[in-house]
Amino acid sequence: MRKKVSVIGAGNVGASAAQLVAQASLADVVLFDIAGGIPQGKALDIAEACPLWNSSVSVKGTNSYADTKDSDMVVITAGFPRKPNMSRDDLLHANADVVKAVSGAIAKTSPNAIVIVVTNPMDVMAQLAWKTTEFSCKRVIGMGGILDAARLRTFLSWELNVSPEDIETIVLGGHGDQMVPLPRFTTVKGIAITEFLKKKTIDSLVHRTRNGGAEIVSLLKSGSAYYAPAAALVQMIKSILFDEKRMFPCAAYLNGEYGMKDIYLGVPVILGREGVERVVEIKLTKEERAQLKESCSTVKKLVKKLLI
Ligand code: APR
Repeated sequence: MRKKVSVIGAGNVGASAAQLVAQASLADVVLFDIAGGIPQGKALDIAEACPLWNSSVSVKGTNSYADTKDSDMVVITAGFPRKPNMSRDDLLHANADVVKAVSGAIAKTSPNAIVIVVTNPMDVMAQLAWKTTEFSCKRVIGMGGILDAARLRTFLSWELNVSPEDIETIVLGGHGDQMVPLPRFTTVKGIAITEFLKKKTIDSLVHRTRNGGAEIVSLLKSGSAYYAPAAALVQMIKSILFDEKRMFPCAAYLNGEYGMKDIYLGVPVILGREGVERVVEIKLTKEERAQLKESCSTVKKLVKKLLI
């Protein structure tokens, strides 16, 4: 039987993710939104592209949670994106209301689903979704690090004039501005980038990556990034649906790992059929540890604001 993926929020990120899932025939897709007509229209358009993609999955748009019933995976992209000069944190309260409502509905209609949270501020929203659904923390994951890593890989590939495919990196900490890069674990086909680039150059690429989301927001004027976020999401979905056990940086619940307790934060995890199958712990330098601690306390402050 084909798997079922429900995407909550038929906006830019949600619709792009639905498209990629359908195009790659990964699963049947249900696209849900509160706005009438939008999910139906976009789903119909995607369904009509399926013959051209040689894909036979079903794609349905809806305003009813009943259609999402018993999904294997649910992706939460519902909420509001950033506007220029707005931080992800400005979105906190507006998006918390949305994520609470969505998570409550999912818990009832898809009690066995694995949930990926994209809505920003993502680390906090992942914790909120976990609390609201009361699912095992293995089954609630935040998408952020994989996108930050992809942005850094892009900038490095331009700087080094090599394929981004051959660049590997891992980032820790909160999504976006709070990310903790790990240049010593960033390689071109296994060769550390510190062999090729001066610290100053690496720092400037890291700086651009931290502000990668804001750079796009300021260019678009309205709305935020969605092609790369959707692509990042689909790598996570695929690793879970096909039990690939790939390692990605994702926001996962930490209960002692990396010295952090009761918090969702970006760390390397193995994604498989169970969701987060394990958190991969690596030994950090003093400086990296300090950066991660700072990132954690920023996320914790927001969690406190929401009284999660
Ligand atoms: N239930 C379902 N859908 C909702 C709800 C709700 N309670 N509230 C809002 N939505 C829908 C909107 O109708 C809209 O179609 O969520 C969609 C959001 O789409 P966009 O505004 O295009 O935002 P998008 O760019 O997709 O970003 C979504 O992901 O990357 C993050 O910061 C970003 O938090 C934002 C989220």
